[in-house]
Amino acid sequence: MLQSGDMNTIYNKRIIVGISGSIAAYKSAELTRRLRDAGADVRVVMTRSATEFITPLTLQALSGKPVHTDLMDADAEAAMGHIELARWADLILVAPASAAFIARLTSGDASDLLSALCLACQAPIAIAPAMNQAMWSNAATQANIDTLKQRQLNILGPAQGSQACGETGPGRMLEVEQLITSCAELFQSGVLAGRRVLITAGPTREPLDPVRYISNRSSGKMGFAIAEAAAEAGADVTLVAGPVLLNTPERVTRVDVETASQMHQAVLEQASACDIFIATAAVADYRPGLQAVNKIKKQAEEMQLKLVKTQDILATVAALETPPFTVGFAAETDRLLDYARSKMERKNLHMIVANPVGPTQGFNQDTNELDILWPNGHIHLDLDSKKTLARKLITIIAERTNAIDTTENTGRKTR
Ligand SMILES: Cc1cc2nc3c(=O)[nH]c(=O)nc-3n(C[C@H](O)[C@H](O)[C@H](O)COP(=O)(O)O)c2cc1C
Repeated sequence: MLQSGDMNTIYNKRIIVGISGSIAAYKSAELTRRLRDAGADVRVVMTRSATEFITPLTLQALSGKPVHTDLMDADAEAAMGHIELARWADLILVAPASAAFIARLTSGDASDLLSALCLACQAPIAIAPAMNQAMWSNAATQANIDTLKQRQLNILGPAQGSQACGETGPGRMLEVEQLITSCAELFQSGVLAGRRVLITAGPTREPLDPVRYISNRSSGKMGFAIAEAAAEAGADVTLVAGPVLLNTPERVTRVDVETASQMHQAVLEQASACDIFIATAAVADYRPGLQAVNKIKKQAEEMQLKLVKTQDILATVAALETPPFTVGFAAETDRLLDYARSKMERKNLHMIVANPVGPTQGFNQDTNELDILWPNGHIHLDLDSKKTLARKLITIIAERTNAIDTTENTGRKTR
């Protein structure tokens, strides 16, 4: 059961409160206020019917933000469009959820703003049904609820009791207090809540002279997606990034570096305080032995470059006295699993993520395919968007760190 202190999980979360056309809509005002009191950033989206039960003005005043009601609203789309709103949310909580809304959600009907948002949203969705007991018991509603449960939607309630229509039975919306507790529990299951995660991403640049450098094709997209997924999962995330053209994910602390040596230093400054280290950066293995002070001139027909090995960031972290749970990445063009497993063993890693480099996956692509290996296990994740893969990877890392915590009592540090 949730302790009162665990209400903290709502703090700083971005919650869309969806309101559909039920007599219970008056309770959404209190719900919005209480979520804000708990520190959530709340946006309210109402169906047209809902506006017959409670005014958008009330919800605007309570949420402190404009209320969204129309899908085809050009002004709203220009400000924060429905897809943007769907991406913004950490949770959509539809309370009350009418029978009609539940039917639309089940059938994937995107004809109103709230339904379209739910369809476009990759964050968790929770609904609090509210309706007459016969509507709730109706086979159509029950079949819809069963389908939504199978799709992993969170169905909160309904409660039993006397209803506004004078009948008694199941169909009352849960009380605000219960809804808030359920929300906090949903966030608490943020699989990395309270963990400190350090991630490296992108390439490094190793200068030859003031204008030239040696680098690689890493875009940083995978590492940034992992940083975003870790933050979504409740972690306190620091991202050490090589030179990339990507925006910093929300709630992530970013440290920009350029060379392997700078990345090594930035990581070592943070590593001993982190619980999990995920090294996605494509760090140069070699750097020019000498960096020319002035631009090298084109003269000789041939030119020899002397390269020297850079420091191995991953191995250094894995060799710390109390290392964090250390995850390496191996991008390979051939013999992927063999190379990955031997890298994991050689560097004493807790886990390694192997990804093939090819035309549709790997460097500078939005998609990837991953093989996740740990000493006694292996999971293959099929080609998918880097964002989806990042979320799955974070879930697996959380499971492995928890398994190690419980069996070996290691891997987790106290602040
Ligand atoms: C006074 C009144 C109360 C209603 N209460 C509910 C209710 O509690 N639950 C429900 O599912 N529908 C209820 N309805 C019917 C819905 O408002 C109607 O199905 C509407 O189309 C729902 O639209 P929406 O899902 O787009 O919000 C009620 C209708 C009226 C007139």
